[in-house]
Amino acid sequence: MNDNHVRIVEVGPRDGLQNEKAMLPADVKIALIDRLSSTGLATIEATSFVSPKWVPQLADAAEVFQGIRKVPGVSYPVLVPNEQGYRRAREVGATEVAVFTAASEAFNRKNINAGIDESIERFRPVLELARAEGVKVRGYVSTVLGCPYQGEVPVADVVRVAARLHQLGCHEISLGDTIGVGTPAKARAMLKAVAAEVPMAALAVHFHDTYGQALANILSCLEEGVRVVDSAVSGTGGCPYAKGATGNVASEDVVYMLHGMGMETGVNLDLLVAAGAWLAAQLHKETASRVTRARTAA
Ligand code: HMG
Ligand code: MG
Repeated sequence: MNDNHVRIVEVGPRDGLQNEKAMLPADVKIALIDRLSSTGLATIEATSFVSPKWVPQLADAAEVFQGIRKVPGVSYPVLVPNEQGYRRAREVGATEVAVFTAASEAFNRKNINAGIDESIERFRPVLELARAEGVKVRGYVSTVLGCPYQGEVPVADVVRVAARLHQLGCHEISLGDTIGVGTPAKARAMLKAVAAEVPMAALAVHFHDTYGQALANILSCLEEGVRVVDSAVSGTGGCPYAKGATGNVASEDVVYMLHGMGMETGVNLDLLVAAGAWLAAQLHKETASRVTRARTAA
């Protein structure tokens, strides 16, 4: 992989739709993922196999995963909180999963009803099964630049949790600014500290755009050397257990910025904009992507 290439991890169908008020029917979710599959995106997080009581928006995970067209060369990871979720995902043929915990105890309790260490213990059987079955596991660390309950999150806590997930066998660690409070210098310092313990090639950044800082944060992290960026088409969503958190940075805006910088993503921006505009229409809301707004203005 050349240094000019950035892999976008499209999280809209999962992180985006988990927090939208509108409950989209499974066939619309399937149509969305199929559209995204034809844009050139290499990784599309399709859904999550969490408790439907906690996230009713994604209760149809099995139906959605089974219904999507699996385009060769495209990965379709799914989020799992525990072994039960892992088994549900495997039953319908998932070959990549993602586990998630946080750098803040308080947030983790609200999000998955467990402390950090306890949540990592829950992942152990998932990682053991995954290793035996040849399943790739991504690890998310949430609240890396601030917590809605605890406030400041020490960088040392982020480093400790990220390194732990990596040691346990996660092939990639995604560093999540869950509530979008980070600013570029802090984002960069956090990434640099984590990269001292986990190879940069195994790191991804995941910014929510609550305070409008996401693109600036991504740029500073690109300068630091990261080459995997999470984003959601049309800038949908957020975490239901992080009060006030708005959507992820919009994929269209990230791709536009990267292409403008002469970087490659393999993504066709026109097709991505079309998918984003289509999704906004399905959700009956204006897109949060500035690029899609500009490109589709009457
Ligand atoms: P709990 O209530 O402590 O779990 O929830 P439990 O083990 O006591 O089980 C309670 C019930 O849930 C039982 O059912 C289980 O069978 C069921 P009952 O006997 O009451 O009928 N259950 C499940 N059902 C289906 N699939 C499963 C599953 N597990 C248990 N996998 C639990 C603990 C982790 C399950 C719950 O807290 C949960 O599902 N949380 C998910 C919350 C979530 O999805 N949050 C959003 C994703 S994280 C995020 O967005 C951040 C990220 O984007 C990065 C960033 O931005 O920072 C990744
Ligand atoms: Mg998120």
